[in-house]
Amino acid sequence: MQPFFFLLRILFLLIFLSSTFALDFLFNSFIGTANGTNLTLINDARIDTSTIRLTNDSNQFSFGRFFYPTTLSMKPNSNSTSLSSFSTSFVFSVLPEISTSPGFGLCFVLSNSTSPPGALASQYFGIFTNATDPIVAPLLAIEFDTGQNPEFNDPDGNHIGIDLNNIISAQTAPAQYFNSSNGSFVPFNMRTGQNVHAWIDFDGVNFEINVTVAPVGVSRPPRPTLNYKNPLIANYVSSEMFVGFSASKTQWVEAQRVLAWSLSDTGVLREINTTGLPVFIIESSSSSLSSGAIAGIVIGCVAFVIICGSGCYLFWRKIFREESEDEIEDWELEYWPHRFSYEELKQATNGFSNENLLGSGGFGRVFKAKLPNNTEVAVKCVNHDSKQGLREFMAEIESMGRLQHKNLVQMRGWCRKGNELMLVYDYMLNGSLNRWIFDKPQKLLGWRQRLLVLADVAEGLNYLHHGWDQVVVHRDIKSSNILLDSEMRGRLGDFGLAKLYEHGQVPKTTRVVGTLGYLAPELATVAVPTAASDVYSFGVVVLEVVCGRRPLEMAMEKEEEQVLMDWVRELYEEGRVREAADARVQQEYEGEEVEMVLKLGLACCHPDPLRRPTMKEVAAVLVGEEVAAAPADLLNELAYGGSTVGDDGSSVGEDSRVAVPPEPPM
Ligand SMILES: *[C@@H]1O[C@H](CO)[C@@H](O)[C@H](O)[C@H]1NC(C)=O
Ligand SMILES: *[C@@H]1O[C@H](CO)[C@@H](O)[C@H](O)[C@H]1NC(C)=O
Ligand SMILES: *[C@@H]1O[C@H](CO)[C@@H](O)[C@H](O)[C@H]1NC(C)=O
Ligand SMILES: *[C@@H]1O[C@H](CO)[C@@H](O)[C@H](O)[C@H]1NC(C)=O
Ligand SMILES: *[C@@H]1O[C@H](CO)[C@@H](O)[C@H](O)[C@H]1NC(C)=O
Ligand SMILES: *[C@@H]1O[C@H](CO)[C@@H](O)[C@H](O)[C@H]1NC(C)=O
Ligand SMILES: *[C@@H]1O[C@H](CO)[C@@H](O)[C@H](O)[C@H]1NC(C)=O
Ligand SMILES: *[C@@H]1O[C@H](CO)[C@@H](O)[C@H](O)[C@H]1NC(C)=O
Ligand SMILES: *[C@@H]1O[C@H](CO)[C@@H](O)[C@H](O)[C@H]1NC(C)=O
Ligand SMILES: *[C@@H]1O[C@H](CO)[C@@H](O)[C@H](O)[C@H]1NC(C)=O
Repeated sequence: MQPFFFLLRILFLLIFLSSTFALDFLFNSFIGTANGTNLTLINDARIDTSTIRLTNDSNQFSFGRFFYPTTLSMKPNSNSTSLSSFSTSFVFSVLPEISTSPGFGLCFVLSNSTSPPGALASQYFGIFTNATDPIVAPLLAIEFDTGQNPEFNDPDGNHIGIDLNNIISAQTAPAQYFNSSNGSFVPFNMRTGQNVHAWIDFDGVNFEINVTVAPVGVSRPPRPTLNYKNPLIANYVSSEMFVGFSASKTQWVEAQRVLAWSLSDTGVLREINTTGLPVFIIESSSSSLSSGAIAGIVIGCVAFVIICGSGCYLFWRKIFREESEDEIEDWELEYWPHRFSYEELKQATNGFSNENLLGSGGFGRVFKAKLPNNTEVAVKCVNHDSKQGLREFMAEIESMGRLQHKNLVQMRGWCRKGNELMLVYDYMLNGSLNRWIFDKPQKLLGWRQRLLVLADVAEGLNYLHHGWDQVVVHRDIKSSNILLDSEMRGRLGDFGLAKLYEHGQVPKTTRVVGTLGYLAPELATVAVPTAASDVYSFGVVVLEVVCGRRPLEMAMEKEEEQVLMDWVRELYEEGRVREAADARVQQEYEGEEVEMVLKLGLACCHPDPLRRPTMKEVAAVLVGEEVAAAPADLLNELAYGGSTVGDDGSSVGEDSRVAVPPEPPM
């Protein structure tokens, strides 16, 4: 009996695990996808270069659908009324051959079957039945309708709608997006072929669906286009649902395409990069070629050039590999999608010349580089004295390769030569945050921008801490690790790098790595960085940015260092915390707001790690519409765990001066 039960348990575990496996995927293009493995294509749906086409132009009646091959777990069991949540975002294009012809559009589908019973072959998006009394069944769609069918109560030929197993929508909204600068909705046309970006947030706990649409190029609007909230949706969802798209057409030609698709039910959605997506627009009538043919020719030529180019490149690499490249060890090949060759990076950085040097310090020297395709990147050279340490680190980094967030500096690849590791990152045009606060009196960062950057970093760090199945501790948050991109938005760099130096070089000692002034007090004794110690460092950055002062500064009068946080805390205790704020941007802020942010910074620097807020809470305050409307009581309580802390000898200022080398020896 014993082994039997053991096997039963394993079996049960396997079933349990496989049925509740999380979905998290991003197709930034559909190049390289295959029917059956990456997607399930039904009927006329097909992969068309980098996109998916749903209907067939030459058939009078056509429908097509495609689904992700794995189902989404929506309920713990079939009787449950609680639903799971997920978010999805995708880019689609609807291009009619004749702009005045009747239109069709497409829909995003949640269905318990890839072939719902009774679906019509050329109407109703190819997914619904025409039964006069639609029944309750696990089928729910969000339509992007580019045609008007008055018999189905369509308001117009350019709307979105929630369809609960019924072509007659439960709720509709015109295609428009919210513009926060003038506070109004801006209508746009979904039927011009222009790329449309859509976001759907399905909140299973509150039975709420938010749908947001905007033309590609407009960043995600803060308010949804359509908000639907009704517990009824639980009736249209079964425990396992396929997710995908569906469209149909009659005699008129309308090309419905999906260009990119991202979905996650584990937290933060991976972002679609919309810059390189193809564009299909209505051709001017002068040309005798159809837009499809032109697009085909252009794509064909580009593909030809790419194939030739990469062929030559591979040939070139093969020839030069043996003589010019450092030997590659077997274990290296297991890691990471992209390994640059040393020669490539050497060329891209002009032989690591001084003109290309962006800076040094932190973990090594950083060079600006230009890849053969003219993309600018930053190459960070990290020296390490043991190959074992590198190897352990690479294993770590491999899983971090999947980390993608708009507020993280994206890593593009790596290279190793001897004990030197070269990490290739996106190039950040505007350098690091500290330079915009301390070094640039003529180009000082304004108050609004400071708040935006802090919110960006909070979001990035929140993603590392909570947006992933395991907590990723950054370990070295400081203003020089925060970079500003071309739009002056903040991005967090160097995550995980500190870990490289922790795998004890001296056995049994884990050295604390971080930067003096930003280290949480508990690291002096326990030496295990946690999410809470990151929060502490973030708090120091907040104070630094708001006050325009460095975390440790030599005081003029006395011959000793002044700890920024102690100084702010003293002012806070005296009720004069607003005086701490940077006087150079005084005209731009309101006292209440500045006070709130300073309190938030102090709360993050609470000496007791357990009493610091989480990054989720911090991000909610900073990203929220009104910073001044933050829960004031909470912050007041947190800002300073009573005045006892200052007296009991565990002064935070003392502790933050732990004798840890600020930078590892290079
Ligand atoms: C398609 O699936 C195969 C097998 O799982 C995988 O190796 C490949 O990377 C996938 N392609 C894309 C574009 O996702
Ligand atoms: C895709 O694969 C499914 C089975 O996995 C098959 O039923 C379907 O016909 C295929 N579709 C196309 C367009 O090849
Ligand atoms: C469209 O359908 C026709 C007729 O069924 C078929 O011959 C043709 O290959 C299809 N076109 C595409 C692009 O699938
Ligand atoms: C669902 O409810 C029915 C009727 O109450 C019951 O017979 C069945 O066992 C339940 N199923 C599950 C999975 O709980
Ligand atoms: C989908 O749901 C319908 C209605 O509840 C049911 O008849 C059908 O068997 C289900 N299909 C699958 C594949 O679960
Ligand atoms: C539904 O569609 C089928 C096939 O097109 C047709 O035969 C049937 O009459 C339609 N039913 C209704 C109620 O319109
Ligand atoms: C938002 O409105 C402002 C003011 O009318 C305008 O300048 C801006 O271009 C609009 N932005 C978008 C994305 O429509
Ligand atoms: C808001 O901005 C959009 C885009 O610039 C414009 O079309 C619209 O008229 C503006 N609305 C108001 C109320 O100013
Ligand atoms: C949906 O939008 C409303 C505002 O219209 C917002 O209050 C709510 O939190 C949003 N829900 C989700 C799941 O995004
Ligand atoms: C997005 O794609 C474009 C072109 O394909 C590329 O230049 C850019 O670096 C990408 N951006 C990100 C954040 O990956």
